[in-house]
Amino acid sequence: MTTQEFIGKENFNIHTQTVSESCPSNIALIKYWGKYKDQIPANPSISYTLNHCKTNTSMEFVADESFSVQTFLAGSEEVKFAEKIEKYFRNIEQYLPWILKGRYIIRTENTFPHSSGIASSASGFGAIAKCLMKLDEMFAGKISEEKSLRKASFLARLGSGSACRSLYNGLIVWGQTEEVQGSSDLFAVPYPDAEIHEVFKRFNDWVLLIHEGQKSVSSTVGHGLMNTNPYAERRFQEARENFIPMKEILRSGDMEGFIKLVEHEALTLHAMMMMSDPAFILMKTGTLAVINTIWDFRQKTGLPLFFTLDAGANVHLLFPSNGSEEQIKDFIETELLQHTQKNGVVKDVMEF
Ligand code: DP6
Repeated sequence: MTTQEFIGKENFNIHTQTVSESCPSNIALIKYWGKYKDQIPANPSISYTLNHCKTNTSMEFVADESFSVQTFLAGSEEVKFAEKIEKYFRNIEQYLPWILKGRYIIRTENTFPHSSGIASSASGFGAIAKCLMKLDEMFAGKISEEKSLRKASFLARLGSGSACRSLYNGLIVWGQTEEVQGSSDLFAVPYPDAEIHEVFKRFNDWVLLIHEGQKSVSSTVGHGLMNTNPYAERRFQEARENFIPMKEILRSGDMEGFIKLVEHEALTLHAMMMMSDPAFILMKTGTLAVINTIWDFRQKTGLPLFFTLDAGANVHLLFPSNGSEEQIKDFIETELLQHTQKNGVVKDVMEF
């Protein structure tokens, strides 16, 4: 594993420029939770890239002696975010040697609600990394599209780990595993299309907004708690092992196996937080009510509606687009929406 291929060229030619890019969010099926120095994940993860929930970003670069960053989120200036981006840019200078040679105005907006449990850091850093690679192409010269995407994924990872998976559409793997050829801790790679059953290529993700407030624990703190969690090593090992059944499930179209594995991963992430010191319970009453109602529904109907969770209370409802979906959608509207704070649901799909 080496970062050599990402080191930037010393001969560049900067000039004032504005670029715009857009990047979707993603939802993990095998979760990244725990990391080492330089954003190296403690275990491999796999996610679906969403199709509608995106961040749109424009980046104005004014070549200048002094370096500064100004950021606007949906039109309002965000000083804290600018500080974060400044730190990030300083951190990636060796990969983009021109990066500190100017002033930036970054305007960004999400197509989905804030605090919705949809990872805006993933789409946000994905879009910023794409803007940076566009500038790099203008200043340092063109590289192949494949190399440029890979470097964007590498750079996005240094902003927020899960962001590196958002650069590609479909099912995406980040973290070295023998089960996926070409996988790396440094950047994400698409899971080979030929090894994915058709049933997994068109899926719905409806996010129930159980709780729309601030999350009780940031992912930075959450990852950090894995350093002292006595079960952490076992969890990292289990995530690695989970790639073995996942591979067979994806190949054969085993929906039952998929449901079991994906729900187990979500519950394990939450169990890890409950076993941390200090302990966190990230679910709310509504989260539990939704999970139990889904399990009842599945037992009664046998229909493939299931869930995953990120590090928060909101529930990602997953179900394939294959004919049985109307009954599932009706059920969500009539039985599950009542557990949300304000009837909030964000409807997305994964299609590739
Ligand atoms: C629960 O990528 O947000 O969504 O690397 O510290 O920015 P940082 O963390 P982040 O963690 C995401 C964790 C997760 C699971 C996942 O997406 O794999």
